[in-house]
Amino acid sequence: MTTPYTFAHLTALPIKEKCAELSRNGKVFHVIFAEQFDRDTLELLCSVATRLRKIAKSREGMDFLRGLLSHKSAMLYFTQPSTRTFLSFVRACQYLGMDYGEVRDPRISSAYKGESDIDGVRTFSNYFDIIIMRHPEAGFAERTAYTMNTTGMAIPVISAGAGPDEHPTQALLDAYTLKRSFENRKNGLAGLHVAFMGDVARGRTVRSLAKLLTLYPDVRMTFVAPEELRVRKDLGEWLDRKGVRWSETDDVKSVIADIDAIYVTRVQDEYDAGKSSKDIDYTPFHMTLELLSRMKPEAVVMHPLPRRAELDPAIDFDPRARYWDQERNGMWIRAALVAYVFNVESRILDFYAQHYSY
Ligand code: NCD
Repeated sequence: MTTPYTFAHLTALPIKEKCAELSRNGKVFHVIFAEQFDRDTLELLCSVATRLRKIAKSREGMDFLRGLLSHKSAMLYFTQPSTRTFLSFVRACQYLGMDYGEVRDPRISSAYKGESDIDGVRTFSNYFDIIIMRHPEAGFAERTAYTMNTTGMAIPVISAGAGPDEHPTQALLDAYTLKRSFENRKNGLAGLHVAFMGDVARGRTVRSLAKLLTLYPDVRMTFVAPEELRVRKDLGEWLDRKGVRWSETDDVKSVIADIDAIYVTRVQDEYDAGKSSKDIDYTPFHMTLELLSRMKPEAVVMHPLPRRAELDPAIDFDPRARYWDQERNGMWIRAALVAYVFNVESRILDFYAQHYSY
């Protein structure tokens, strides 16, 4: 008897088996979890992104890029607030010559008439070639991917943020930013000490990046958070399984001079259930000029943005601030990812080799 292809069955699978469900021909197809990326794929995406951004500087280059996926269109289904991720995906698609459609407000879609979200996204697969989605419910993008697997259309699904759980493309852009920041360091990202500060419980960017960084040997992680917003059990177990040296503290001063990167996050109070996080004193987790002055000169300050009071705008003027670069890197790595999902990444590498390697 074969196991039925049901959501309950699939969502209960171990992550390794889920990754197989989300792949095609040995490549990542649906992008749902940071765990789907191995080191080679991550390195490939970074090098495609770096070449793409150079190619896009010239008219000839843009003409080439725009021809790559001019026969494809994307559905951007963002029913959770977004500015940078939404726009960076729009631009990523445009660089590759794709058309796109969008739904951002479920009140003006058929959801208002009582249609389920899953029926809604199934409709998109009849009009578009890829679904890029941000949804407040943690498992929704995953379920959409499994739904697509059962339809004849079988189009890829990219999660652009899944509730408080995962934000795999942010992890890609964060890793890309770290790689660019430390490209002259002897061991690259190996052996880095990274601090994650703030709401590390519900910061999906923290959770996805921490998982992705386990691809590099000896990366140390310190999670600096208030008692109520500490690392969730599943992430702690994943890090243990990967043999990562990690610890928790509520005292950022105890690590600030030692770290190579600090990744600051805001309180994710949209996920407050019952107890309000407004009662938590978050000021000890604010990144200030005073803390910056204690950091190594080559260390970097990151933030997924948007920021509130937890990141002093005065830090923007310090060369160690990397959050505006993160945004720009995000657009390029998302373009590289869309190219990869549609199997045109090698055409970008070939074009670069022909025109830009001297
Ligand atoms: C983050 C998110 O949506 O999780 N933003 C983003 O995509 N850059 C971080 C946040 O909202 O705090």
